[in-house]
Amino acid sequence: MNPIIEHLRSHASVRQFADRAVSADDEEIIAATAERSPTSSNLHAYSIVSVRDQEKKARLAVLTGNQNHVAACPLFLVFCADLHRLQSIADVKGYPCHSEYTEAFVVATVDAALAADRALIAAQALGIWGVMVGGIRNKPEEVCDLLKLPSLVYPVMGMSLGYPAAPPKTKPRLPLKGLWFKERYNESASVAATEEYDHIIDAGGHLTGREVDKQNYPDFAGTYSWSEHSARRMAGTSPNVLRPHLLDFLRNRGFLRT
Ligand SMILES: Cc1cc2nc3c(=O)[nH]c(=O)nc-3n(C[C@H](O)[C@H](O)[C@H](O)COP(=O)(O)O)c2cc1C
Repeated sequence: MNPIIEHLRSHASVRQFADRAVSADDEEIIAATAERSPTSSNLHAYSIVSVRDQEKKARLAVLTGNQNHVAACPLFLVFCADLHRLQSIADVKGYPCHSEYTEAFVVATVDAALAADRALIAAQALGIWGVMVGGIRNKPEEVCDLLKLPSLVYPVMGMSLGYPAAPPKTKPRLPLKGLWFKERYNESASVAATEEYDHIIDAGGHLTGREVDKQNYPDFAGTYSWSEHSARRMAGTSPNVLRPHLLDFLRNRGFLRT
């Protein structure tokens, strides 16, 4: 198989790290590769904050919902949507900057996510693995204070990086026919793929002991697999799942006002 394809297909999230530092040279390679990501209209509407300070990582671990790997990893990255840079340029030139538009928010968020994905791929190529951390949006105000993020900048996701403590294990994905459609959306293929995936996840025991909000479903007697798990996540009331604070937070930072 083509080595790049093989590399991409070996992806697995890693949350346990060996006691080994990530060198400044490797951080530089990861950063420079992330920056080669496509960016909408070449606007560079994102920034990345790299964190090595142990106290800061420990605080971020708490803010992300007590995710231990955030404190334990040698290198934590925060990928931010950033319209501040463009706003500042416009201010200098005396132009309006419509950073309040929903489209501007989408552009900046997608830019940050693309850079994050490429950073992870680059890191993995160096033997450094990790996991994306959406938990960075649990307490976004506090994260902004800690990292001194200005208005019009928000943390889209974090990323714990380090050398894996054990060989990474890939997780099965939804059968391709359920999300890769030809010429038109195919609802029945999606339903069939979901059923198949439930069997795969159940047979592999991937969700054993990971039932969401078990106390809310005392009468559940079915097979607890991917569809049940995902439906419960989408029904969840915990503030760290669907993060109901996010719209107000984003508007306060200058996003999504129009
Ligand atoms: C945007 C994003 C945010 C994520 N946030 C977290 C997180 O906060 N904590 C965590 O342990 N995993 C997080 N993950 C990892 C996913 O749970 C993981 O990618 C998914 O279960 C598939 O597993 P795999 O990456 O090992 O294939 C996140 C993934 C993405 C793409």
